[in-house]
Amino acid sequence: MFADLSALPPDALLGLTKLYNEDPRAAKIDLGVGVFRTPDNRTPVMRAVADAQKALVERETTKVYLPPEGAPGFGEAIRSLIFGDALSAERCAVIQTPGGCGALRVGAELLRRADAQSVSIGAPTWANHKPLLSAAGLNISMIPYYDAPSGRIDFDAFYAGASKLGRKDALLLHGGCHNPTGADLSTDEIDAIAGLAADKGFTPFVDCAYHGFANGLDADAYIIRRLAEYAPEFLVSYSCSKNFGLYRERTGAIIAVGADAGRTAAMKTHILNIARQIYSMPPGHGGIIVAGILTDPALNRSWRAELEEMRLAVIANRRRLVETAARHQLGDRLSYIEEQNGMFSLLPVTDAEVLALRERHGVYVAGGGRANMCGVNESNVDHLCQALADVMAR
Ligand code: LMR
Repeated sequence: MFADLSALPPDALLGLTKLYNEDPRAAKIDLGVGVFRTPDNRTPVMRAVADAQKALVERETTKVYLPPEGAPGFGEAIRSLIFGDALSAERCAVIQTPGGCGALRVGAELLRRADAQSVSIGAPTWANHKPLLSAAGLNISMIPYYDAPSGRIDFDAFYAGASKLGRKDALLLHGGCHNPTGADLSTDEIDAIAGLAADKGFTPFVDCAYHGFANGLDADAYIIRRLAEYAPEFLVSYSCSKNFGLYRERTGAIIAVGADAGRTAAMKTHILNIARQIYSMPPGHGGIIVAGILTDPALNRSWRAELEEMRLAVIANRRRLVETAARHQLGDRLSYIEEQNGMFSLLPVTDAEVLALRERHGVYVAGGGRANMCGVNESNVDHLCQALADVMAR
């Protein structure tokens, strides 16, 4: 049966962690996969998560199946976290999924059932977007988004690409903390895209994987709340991996916003049916923890405070890198990084320089020069800047 299946190479991002772990050098630096890190390179369980988990273990009496929508209270809590008052509950279906990846795949299957012709994505994008969405049978087309020399978005080109979309097309948007560039749409640009979606009738699909890491929970929800005002229908894939630190618990949601209550209810039946065909229902542990945190005032406060600490820590890391680079013959070549958001920025390096960073200096960055700013800290920033100056000078 399987004789014709030749072995595939390891996943580019996940494989990088393995290479880093196997590297015996003490001075290695991991700027690869997107996880939060403390200055001493740990990714701890968040305080509210530890508390909610403890309470869960103490009171849990069964492991029977969750309802197909996910943990009780999860959907309503996520809806109110993201939309606030911007959307009535009857126009919004929230279904818990195995992580943000599960949400993207289920959303893609829903678009396929609706006979979507294509999904457009601004380039570059997260390495797994194309495989995830095209696995559902969707055609993917890349449109311009980022202008690497300036470290900024080429909004005119992005807008022009989106202007060509019609009623059977979807546009994937990053819900803040763009992966891999860190360059986000401004509020004016979001307004323009939301207006365009309303005019042209294409379906926005917002991948919201870093909620709270750019400018805070409310500010980061701007894109979703604006779409709720303008676009009759759209989808959101939501991940709790980064902002709840629940990476391995695979906790996320697909959120369908329909034109009215009836359309939303119909979309929900399809989502549940798609999920049933793939994995039946989501894992319970993470969803129960998230619902517990969001519905308990003390845990909610604790979670928000720690998320804000994490957000500010990443901003400080960005500043540290830019300031240190200036002292290492790099001048202002990295200065754009301070204006960007979230975990990632693209370093101005070629693929050969990415390899040289790894081989010569033990600095692990992802393809295209994507660097996780969480991994920059006081004790490694000099090494990092020396390594960059070295590979970029050759
Ligand atoms: C990343 O982009 O590094 C993370 O979202 C992890 C992943 O699954 O790729």
